Amino acid sequence: MSIFEYNGSAVVAMVGKNCFAIASDRRLGVQLQTIATDFQRVFKIHDKLYIGLSGLATDAQTLYQRLVFRHKLYQLREERDMKPETFASLVSALLYEKRFGPYFCQPVIAGLGDDNVPFICTMDCLGAKELAKDFVVSGTASESLYGACESMYKPDMQPDELFETISQALNSSVDRDCLSGWGGYVLIVTPTEVREHVIKSRMD
Ligand SMILES: *[C@@H]1O[C@H](CO)[C@@H](O)[C@H](O)[C@H]1NC(C)=O
Ligand SMILES: *[C@@H]1O[C@H](CO)[C@@H](O)[C@H](O)[C@H]1NC(C)=O
Repeated sequence: MSIFEYNGSAVVAMVGKNCFAIASDRRLGVQLQTIATDFQRVFKIHDKLYIGLSGLATDAQTLYQRLVFRHKLYQLREERDMKPETFASLVSALLYEKRFGPYFCQPVIAGLGDDNVPFICTMDCLGAKELAKDFVVSGTASESLYGACESMYKPDMQPDELFETISQALNSSVDRDCLSGWGGYVLIVTPTEVREHVIKSRMD
């Protein structure tokens, strides 16, 4: 089994009209044994910027702590929040720096940039960015997430419809992957508010 699959995960981000959604499953496991069903994989960087970290749970937490540290230094020096594009480059550089002993994580970055234009991207554990205009996925459920998102996604969705779409995509995908699931965590971010939802799914 790959080290990326040990703890299991499903992370997805989707773009709507001047808004975005980022979601993850809530399972933490060691191979097929489930350890916890309230595990957090989506982390806040600032009000309009979030990162989801799939892969090895311990590395996800370490990487998040290092990113918060780097972002706080930036805030002190620049007296402003980081743009999503800048943050993606930071994550990429941090991962590439550690390429000979990488963090076993595949990040999903989602944020609102200037004029509230949504930005999403994903990368591999060495920091190779993959930009997309519609949705990005990562984790052990990524194969089924690609399929579900591909068929459910529509451009320019409003926040409510976006929530419904990403929840259904996540919910149906994790049923096809025994290493992720056990509920979902969905964040809908608009220029004025952040809505947080915990969704129920199959617990088997
Ligand atoms: C995640 O997987 C690793 C295997 O590399 C395992 O050692 C660890 O216990 C798992 N995490 C938790 C918190 O169970
Ligand atoms: C997720 O799917 C299960 C069936 O697999 C269903 O019972 C549940 O209501 C769904 N949850 C949401 C939030 O759609």
